[in-house]
Formats: sequence, C-alpha cells, structure tokens
Amino acid sequence: MDMYEKVIELARRRGFIWPAFELYGGAAGFYDYGPLGAPLKRGIEDLWRGFFVIREGFCEIECPTIGVEEIFKASGHLSGFSDPLTECKECGEIYRADHLIKHIIEVPDALADEEIYRVIKENDVFCPECGGDLSEIYEFNLMFKTFIGPGGKQPGYLRPETAQGMFVNFPRLLRHYRDRLPFGAVQIGKSYRNEISPRQGVIRLREFSQAEAEIFINPKDKSHPRFGEVADLKMTLYSKEGQERGVTEEMAVGEAVARGIIAHQTLAYYVARTCQFLMEAGLSKERLRFRQHKDDEMAHYAADCWDAEALLDRFGWIEIVGIADRTNYDLKSHMAQSQANLTVYLPLDQPRREDRLVVKPDMKKLGPLFRKEAKAVADALSALPLEELKQDPIVVIVDGKSQKIDPALVSFEMVTEEIRGEEIVPHVIEPSFGIDRILYSVLEHSYREETVEGETRAVLALKNRVVPIQVAVLPLMDRSELLAPAEEIARDLRSLDLRVEYDSSGSIGRRYRRNDEVGTPYSVTVDYETLEEGTVTIRDRDSMSQIRVVRADLADKIQALLAGEMEFLEAGTPLSG
Ligand code: GLY
Repeated sequence: MDMYEKVIELARRRGFIWPAFELYGGAAGFYDYGPLGAPLKRGIEDLWRGFFVIREGFCEIECPTIGVEEIFKASGHLSGFSDPLTECKECGEIYRADHLIKHIIEVPDALADEEIYRVIKENDVFCPECGGDLSEIYEFNLMFKTFIGPGGKQPGYLRPETAQGMFVNFPRLLRHYRDRLPFGAVQIGKSYRNEISPRQGVIRLREFSQAEAEIFINPKDKSHPRFGEVADLKMTLYSKEGQERGVTEEMAVGEAVARGIIAHQTLAYYVARTCQFLMEAGLSKERLRFRQHKDDEMAHYAADCWDAEALLDRFGWIEIVGIADRTNYDLKSHMAQSQANLTVYLPLDQPRREDRLVVKPDMKKLGPLFRKEAKAVADALSALPLEELKQDPIVVIVDGKSQKIDPALVSFEMVTEEIRGEEIVPHVIEPSFGIDRILYSVLEHSYREETVEGETRAVLALKNRVVPIQVAVLPLMDRSELLAPAEEIARDLRSLDLRVEYDSSGSIGRRYRRNDEVGTPYSVTVDYETLEEGTVTIRDRDSMSQIRVVRADLADKIQALLAGEMEFLEAGTPLSG
C-alpha cells in the first residue's frame, strides 16, 4: 500500500472522504465529505478566513455558482479554457494528452497541441489501457454548460473559478471601500471543471472548493505596507531560473524581492502569507515549495504567478495554491464586454499642468448646412487633432462619408488645465486556494505510523485549529457508574461549543487508537478515581502521556490546551508509566 492508499483507506473508513454517488456506481471527480471530513474542511476554511479576510481587513462575498455567458466571454474562459484531449483509436478511451507525457516533459501543459502530439509520436506513447494508437490532439472546453430557464435560449455556465464574482461586482465593492485602493474581496465556494477523465482520485475533482482573494491595487505602486512583517520568512523557492538549473533555493521573502525573483512586494507578501497559512493548516515545511510559472505556462490573464506545491507520495509535486498578478486583464475585458466604467479615480501626489485643445464648432451655421448630421459633424470636428483643424477646407469623415468644412465654422484654442488625478484600471493580485487538495495534503502530511511496545498505531497529527474532533470522552469501562459522569462531562464540554466524541465501546486502548487515527488531540478518561477523588485523566495524542486534573478545572484546561496556551505536562499531574 502506498501512502495515498493508506490515507484514502483511512479517510473512507472513518468518514473523512467518500466517493460520491457510491450507491449508483460513483462518478470520477466527485467526492463527499463525511462526518469528519466536513468539519476538517470547515476548519481549514475558517483558518483561511482568519488569514485572508479578518487579518487583511478584506470582505467576503457570495455569488451564484452559475454565470451568464457574457462573464465567460469577457474572462476568456469561453474561448480559451480548455485542455488537450486525445482518444485511443482502438478502444475509444479518452485521455488528457499532456498527462500522458508527464514522464517525458517536466511542464507539458506549456506545449502547443502539435508539440504534444509530436512528443507522443516520437516517444512511442500508446493508449495506457490497450496499447492502441492515439488520435491527434483537440481542445476540450472545461466549463459545464447549462441553460437558464426553459426554452434553451439563455446559456449559463457553472463557474470555473470564484474570481469572476469579485470582478463583475467591482463597482459595488469599490463603493463599499469608499472609492479607495487598495482593497480586497474574497469568496469561498464551489467551482466546476469538466476534467477529461480524471484519474488522480481526490486530487483532480470536477466539483471542488476554492478560496480566492482578489486584491485590487494601484498599478503604479505594488509595494505593500506590511511587507516588513514577512520579509524575514524563509521559504523554498523554485524560480523560473532555478527550474532551468533544476535547483530550489531556501530564501527569505525580502531577498527574493530584492533580487527580482518575485516581481514585487505585494505578490511576495501573499506568497509569504500563503506559506504561513499552509504551515498552520498542517502541511510539512519540507514537503512544500513555491514554484514560479514559466512564461509559456502562465494563464492567459497572468503577468507573474507562483504556485504553492505540496509533495505527495503518489503524485509528486502538486499545485495546491496559485498566487498570480492578474494585472488589469479581467477588469479591462469586463469593461469592453459590458461598456461599464470599471476605473478608479486616483488623485496625483503632485498635480500637473497639461495643454488641451478645445474645439468649438459653430452649431448655428452647421445646423442648417448639415441638418440631421450636424451633431455627428460637430463631434467629428471636436475629435480632430490640431494639424487637421488648421487645414482649409477641414475634412471630417461622418458615417463613412467625407465632408468638407469651411474653417470659418470652427474655432479652437489651447487651454492649460491643472490635472489633479486620473482614472486608472486597477491591477489585481490573486491568491487562489484549492481547498480539497489542501485538505488531502494535510491528511497525508499529518499521517504517521508508529510502533509502540510491539504494537503499531496510526496517528493523524492534525493541528488543533482544524481538527474535526477536539476532545474524546471515554468512560474507562462500559459500567453505568462510569457512564453517567462521562456523559455529563461530554455534555458540559459540548455546551462550550467543543466538538466532542463520546465513546464507551471496546477496550480503552482500542478507543485511544481510534481517536489517534482521526487526529483527536485529547482524550478524557473517566475512571473510579473520578468517583472517589473528583479527578479525570487527559491523554495527549502525540506523546501518549497522561495527566490527571480536577474535574471542575477540566473545561478550562481543555480550552487552554486547544488554544496552545499551556504545555500539556504543566496542565495537570503527570501519571507515571
Ligand atoms: N482563479 C484562478 C483559478 O481558478 O485557477
């Protein structure tokens, strides 16, 4: 069994992750989160909210998961959001073509379709199922299409990213932030991609959860006021240049910006915050790196992009977060598509003086001469450059027709104006998190097996912040005199909003192991001393040490331990052995 099989077996058996629609044979790319998976996912999302909403002062919004066609015309997804597909000529099996050459080319999704086909031919790549010949490559759009309302007249698409919700709401968000940059808005929610035959289990889903922040900034100032807080943070970077040489570098964020490896402070700030978030979620630092996109690999909207990649036993380095400078691509495209104004007025530090040509067509004379076309002629005159206004006659094109105008009908002058500000289209920095991949990476990086006194135990060393069960309450034996106080303790702890597991079945050793393998950090045992002395034991998942505490202090102690405010062995009287 490799690590993926072990983790997935545990995840299925204990209710973290289940294949969806299992009753009907399932469907690739869809999974359910069970009774332990759902709170783990919620825990990761809440941790993310702490980092990218609360501490940044950003707002969270929630938009429909179905979008109208115009959104995806503007975003480029309708024309360009596709993957290369190849089909076996013998058995008809369909594959994502770039995935078939991953062992030959390091970043195959940077290749054009013809190049992928050439690599397939030159390296004798055949159908992995039956060994048949593979077809030429064609592009398959990954968006799920549907229709809004009956009649099939209005197409809709399940959103392939949450980001567009923030872009199409830009004017309202700008108003919410009182017309000032920078500001950020986020969404946590489902997105959909109709992946071509997903074969990587929970890693490649057709319905998945994203947590995305769109941070709107002044394109002329990409510094970050809080950069100093993260400048010393060291991370493993795999830059474009490093990929040429096949080396990663351990580097402080400040140095990466100073050396021009990460484009600017704001992008680097969010790379650093991403690293901190992933550490707190429970990823292993040794199995995390930040890889810069190569120029030919970048998404159609991005100017620079860094992926957080987790090292997974079966799949190698897998993208779990993308942090991109999307420039003004999206806002400009939506401006062109919708004709709405998506600019921000930015006052200049120093007002400047500028000469401006003011043209005044004489409407009293143009009116009788040109009648219905008079306004169009006047507008065309106003748009002419100085050189052309000096001609005799002046020539304008109106409705494709050239019109000669007597210069006496137009006056113009140069005026000097003070410019105090300008309308700009903001740039967008986007940290985009794949919550499901992060959740699986957390499970795999937290999983370990240990042999203690000849017995093997599996442990999920989950962080307290995300753990699905915070405390287990276990009567030492299934006897009524122990069950009643144990049930009461479980009730008391639940009334403090703690997620409590009450379990009275099986040997105490087995129950400890059951809790270890789902990551429960603390197990409270009710025994005969509870009845005689009013004390209970608390067992620590990682060290397996136990302490005895007074029952009346239990809730405070558990809360302090969960918050990391107290060392375990200092929270009570350690039990020997
Ligand atoms: N918003 C970036 C992505 O979905 O890939």
